[in-house]
Amino acid sequence: MNPTDIFRGDVLAGHVAVITGGATGICKGIARAYARLGCDVVITSRKQDALDATAAELRAESGREVLGVAADVRDPAALAQVVARAVERFGKIDTLVNGAAGNFLAPAAALSPNGFRTVVEIDLLGTFHACKAAFEPLRTAGDALILNITATLHYHGTPLQIHASAAKAGVDAVTRNLAVEWGQFGIRVNAIAPGPIDDTEGMRKLAPGEMKQKAIKAIPLRRFGTVDEIAAAAVWLRSRGAAYVNGAVIVVDGGESVTAGMFAAM
Ligand code: NAP
Ligand code: COA
Repeated sequence: MNPTDIFRGDVLAGHVAVITGGATGICKGIARAYARLGCDVVITSRKQDALDATAAELRAESGREVLGVAADVRDPAALAQVVARAVERFGKIDTLVNGAAGNFLAPAAALSPNGFRTVVEIDLLGTFHACKAAFEPLRTAGDALILNITATLHYHGTPLQIHASAAKAGVDAVTRNLAVEWGQFGIRVNAIAPGPIDDTEGMRKLAPGEMKQKAIKAIPLRRFGTVDEIAAAAVWLRSRGAAYVNGAVIVVDGGESVTAGMFAAM
């Protein structure tokens, strides 16, 4: 899907976004849509080669500047550097997308303390660190947006994902708290909770092989979502159309999270 089929081509003109996890998967899709719709974009994650490849690809297809700056979101100083580079290059940032995350399937009884801590540190603390690093530029930019990429795991007890469920529950809490504290500074803080999204590292790890077909039976729309469908929600949240949306978690999951347990596949 080309986002210009849905949105006006200049709908995000004038915006500057920092996107964590933006070299791959869902957040690459958000970076792509934002760049195509007129936003300057800085993507960050740990691997500079992946960032360079994605930045070159998005630059070529959008004609906009896309910068890749490596950082581990567990390192607040590294995130401050990313924000400083973005402001130096583009003069401001008014948008932060927190998508960096880690996950794997593990039974709670076998999960080590460090395994639990690692995922919480990337997803939850990483989100907090990035929000703190970007706060001052976002505050001075005005009309700012923090968009956290969360999940629906923690709406129910999701087996084998106690670490990610706890982390994303925390991300939802951060979303609501900062919406309340930072709204007065012109910073809207929202989240998107994707359901299972096709062709992503997340689903390769969490729904391998025949698990995918079983999972689809429990989704009312009877399919996984697409990266572009998450990007479309991210564009709307950044646009003036969502100017009064603050503290919201927008669920984009084909109805999966509202199904009723054992009756889901009927
Ligand atoms: P992905 O491609 O693996 O995206 C995660 C990104 O985070 C990668 O680019 C990774 O790059 C980066 N990252 C991981 N650890 C990092 C760290 N410590 N510091 C900086 N960057 C780090 O997976 P995805 O499936 O597209 O997931 C994207 C987001 O959507 C995540 O927040 C995930 O929880 C959420 N989500 C996904 C699904 C789904 O169906 N895929 C469903 C619900 C929610 P490096 O490894 O190079 O650092
Ligand atoms: N099952 C159980 N424990 C696991 C595991 C698995 N599949 N993978 C990692 N761990 C544990 C490790 O054993 C380690 O704990 P220990 O020290 O007690 O042995 C701990 O998690 C940290 O692992 P490490 O490999 O050092 O972490 P890392 O920081 O290099 O990588 C991960 C973080 C583990 C989340 C890695 O999967 C990653 O980089 N993921 C990013 C991409 C991703 O997950 N995308 C999907 C997003 S939904």
